[in-house]
Amino acid sequence: MSAETGIENISTILVIGAGTMGRQIAMTAALGGFATIIQDISADGLAAARTELEGWAASRVAKGKLEQAKATAALEALGYSTDLDSVATKADFIIEAATERLDIKTQIFEKLGVLAPAHAILATNSSTLGSSKVAEVTGRPAQVCNMHFFNPALVMKCVEVVRHETTSDATVETTMELARRLGKEPVLINREVPGFIANRLMGAIQREALFLAEEGIASIEDIDTTARTALGHPMGPFALMDLVGLDVIDFIAQATHAETGAVEDAPNERIAALVAEGKLGRKSGAGFYDYKG
Ligand SMILES: NC(=O)c1ccc[n+]([C@@H]2O[C@H](COP(=O)([O-])OP(=O)(O)OC[C@H]3O[C@@H](n4cnc5c(N)ncnc54)[C@H](O)[C@@H]3O)[C@@H](O)[C@H]2O)c1
Repeated sequence: MSAETGIENISTILVIGAGTMGRQIAMTAALGGFATIIQDISADGLAAARTELEGWAASRVAKGKLEQAKATAALEALGYSTDLDSVATKADFIIEAATERLDIKTQIFEKLGVLAPAHAILATNSSTLGSSKVAEVTGRPAQVCNMHFFNPALVMKCVEVVRHETTSDATVETTMELARRLGKEPVLINREVPGFIANRLMGAIQREALFLAEEGIASIEDIDTTARTALGHPMGPFALMDLVGLDVIDFIAQATHAETGAVEDAPNERIAALVAEGKLGRKSGAGFYDYKG
């Protein structure tokens, strides 16, 4: 039997990794009223996170979108540390958002299994690694799951909670309830599948969009226009791929294909060719579209 805590016993949340996702997940937790610690091996990364979050809070207050008292309380509820050993012992719920590498995550979860209180739930924000890959090394696999936020985590409502074969019902319930207390709308994925829900849906749309363009059935501009004007998507699939980064899209396809071997998951040749030319999307000035003009 597992010993995980219910939502009523969660007061301190530890977020591991102060990067793009970790810093915003931590601020979300602090705004939700939880004592929150951000841990990162990089002191510079922690300093950058603090500066960004203070700036974000000040700008929300200035725009009248956040009360000053709430902003101050959240910033005061946030602690920063480079020392995992000392902070892991204090956490009731841990969200790992470190670099997307299995060796790094395995080391972290192994440590957490030893350091974290027996009742603590250990969740990973990983987009591509199912929590089963790090569950056993913790010695408490029933208390391990994916808690997958979307970028930017302070804004996006969806949180995908993914259970692996031995994740307990109590872990799932507490994780879903925590997401609700953070103002999110959690969804449950009953077994591990590459891409979870959102990235699978997006992948299907992207595949179809690429097929239509490659067959010469419609231009990328008209396919994007249709997604916006007929389906109400905020942007079309080609514009979105350029925004995410074609190198990232290619990397995800390679990782997914290596895991599933499915024909539909194979990396796209046109995207690979654009990446080889250095056309990575918006960040490089060109991708499917040209952004230099
Ligand atoms: N970027 C996204 O859009 C996005 C969306 C959803 C989920 N994710 C997932 O979130 C996780 C983090 O992604 P990111 O984009 O924030 O990455 P990032 O590169 O911005 O940040 C990663 C941080 O982890 C830190 N780190 C590395 N090793 C560490 C260790 N051993 N202990 C503590 N900290 C360590 C790094 O110093 C860095 O600050 C990944 O698992 C990724 O799959 C990313």
